[in-house]
Amino acid sequence: MNSEICKILKNKNLSDDFYLLKIENNFKEVFLPGNFIHIKIEGVFLRRPFSVAIYTKKFIGIIYKKIGLGTEILSKKRKGESLNILGPCGNSFPIFENKKVALISGGTGIAPLIFLSSELKKRKNKIYFFYGARNKKLIFSEILPSGIDYIFSTDDGSFGQKGNIFDIFKTYKDDYEIIYAAGPEQLLKKVSLYSSKKPVYISLENYMACGMGLCYGCVVKIKEEGDGKYKRVCKDGPIFEGEKIIWE
Ligand code: FES
Repeated sequence: MNSEICKILKNKNLSDDFYLLKIENNFKEVFLPGNFIHIKIEGVFLRRPFSVAIYTKKFIGIIYKKIGLGTEILSKKRKGESLNILGPCGNSFPIFENKKVALISGGTGIAPLIFLSSELKKRKNKIYFFYGARNKKLIFSEILPSGIDYIFSTDDGSFGQKGNIFDIFKTYKDDYEIIYAAGPEQLLKKVSLYSSKKPVYISLENYMACGMGLCYGCVVKIKEEGDGKYKRVCKDGPIFEGEKIIWE
């Protein structure tokens, strides 16, 4: 993990309060799906963590929602300005080859799964990408990789099937060998408890303060001998095996 000064290549409003930020990739380290970056934003004390959604040798892309002072300031940054970025942070999704896989995303959970789907596609996996959002405006089709089977759902039925993406996922033939998920905790909990017969990998999004494994402000309880053990989402995660999480 290193910190680099990276120029902004694009900071585009996708819809409502969601933005796509593309920055130069000045990192020597290779990023893996599931990794996040930690951005220093002048005017706020703590860095902000963002999952990597798009990764190439030339640039890194994240999707963020304007929800507070930090992301408000970030949304006003323009092409050519620079940001201090820490990365790659956290662990990564395990990647397999030639498998039938399901990706399940709700809300902003889409970001790490976009990067993951690109890598899974390169390894000749058959991908079923279940992508749920509140409405059509929150389905970011323009940044989705091609050559993947997408199943969309919206709460209001304005795009894809109407309803909750997990309920729709359950109506499909369940012969996936691996399941990956990212998004709201309720979705991750349901996916994690759904099957004990196949691997389920989830990306957690706990609140982070230091983001470097120092403050223990982001812990999650994991099944281990005895009463379980606390792990740091920022350092030991954010990717965990779903069946190992103790949902509290
Ligand atoms: Fe400090 Fe994870 S945010 S240990």
